[in-house]
Amino acid sequence: VVHLITGGAGFIASHLVSALLLRGHDVVVFDNLALGNLQHLDAALASGHCTFMQIDCANLAEFRAAVGTSLDGRRGFAIWHLAANSDIPAGITDPHIDLRDTFLTTFNALLVMREFAIPEFHFASSSAVYGDFGDLEISEHAGPCQPISNYGAMKLASEGQICAALESRGRRASIFRFPNVVGTPATHGVILDFVNKLRVDKNRLPVLGDGTQQKAYLHVDDLIAAMLFIAEVGPAKINLYNIGPRDAGVTVRFIAECVREVVSPGAEIIYGRGNRGWVGDVPRFRYATDRLAKLGWEPSLSSEAAVRRAVRDVAASFLL
Ligand SMILES: NC(=O)c1ccc[n+]([C@@H]2O[C@H](COP(=O)([O-])OP(=O)(O)OC[C@H]3O[C@@H](n4cnc5c(N)ncnc54)[C@H](O)[C@@H]3O)[C@@H](O)[C@H]2O)c1
Repeated sequence: VVHLITGGAGFIASHLVSALLLRGHDVVVFDNLALGNLQHLDAALASGHCTFMQIDCANLAEFRAAVGTSLDGRRGFAIWHLAANSDIPAGITDPHIDLRDTFLTTFNALLVMREFAIPEFHFASSSAVYGDFGDLEISEHAGPCQPISNYGAMKLASEGQICAALESRGRRASIFRFPNVVGTPATHGVILDFVNKLRVDKNRLPVLGDGTQQKAYLHVDDLIAAMLFIAEVGPAKINLYNIGPRDAGVTVRFIAECVREVVSPGAEIIYGRGNRGWVGDVPRFRYATDRLAKLGWEPSLSSEAAVRRAVRDVAASFLL
């Protein structure tokens, strides 16, 4: 059987590609390389069981043709849809970006699922669908969902489209609501941002906001394990789960201090004002992950341990 992965040259999906190959599956990757990098797939492509197609998943004709060619009569077992705009501030400036890369890619992936009779659909959603719940612990039943970024809005619309599509096609779907995910190869995110700033000026680390923003962070290795676990044992037709650590997260101040310690211990950290990094940034959120724990999965690293490990790995990746 063949697994189809959109956004497969990106940070998270390139780990998923490796994990599926390790399990003995064949994998086809679709990516327009706008944010991803083909180097992330070097080892996968060398295995002989991974095919790469550079296409825009928001273009239905291109997407269908690429799926037809790459399957070449073989049966597609699952679509793992991870292609999206991961640059949330860019999507605030121009809402078309999320309409196209975050929503239309999902809409098209569901049409492809129907056309090629692919039974399973697994989707990378986000805590951004919830909006700003302040200090309340957010369970999967929290509502109403009122996203405050175009990215979050288009993820929520994608979830709705998946539910509607599953009424008439497809056998099972997963909707994974990710927290902030950390690790290498980092393509974006606060750790990469801080490391890059200190590479430009080793004496100053400017931080967006006052550093009190507090969120949960999950290491990418834990995330992939959780996705595979839910896809395997999720009991419902649509399996919707928050995936995250079982703690209240860490502050931006903690991350800035960790990065300084590893990259440039003498640097001065310069905080901005207010508790939002940018418009559309949720300053605090707490995730309830009891549902996933009940299903039988817990992460191996806390937010603090995940951030510490990712800071070391991201910093080291620049020394290679
Ligand atoms: N990293 C996180 O903290 C986080 C948190 C919540 C959700 N997510 C979701 O997880 C998924 C993977 O995120 P990531 O952090 O690996 O980001 P990433 O940017 O590294 O990966 C996204 C990939 O999608 C590709 N892509 C974008 N638009 C495309 C299009 N129209 N056609 C084909 N390919 C396209 C990009 O080139 C990139 O390789 C995304 O759906 C993202 O929204 C990530």
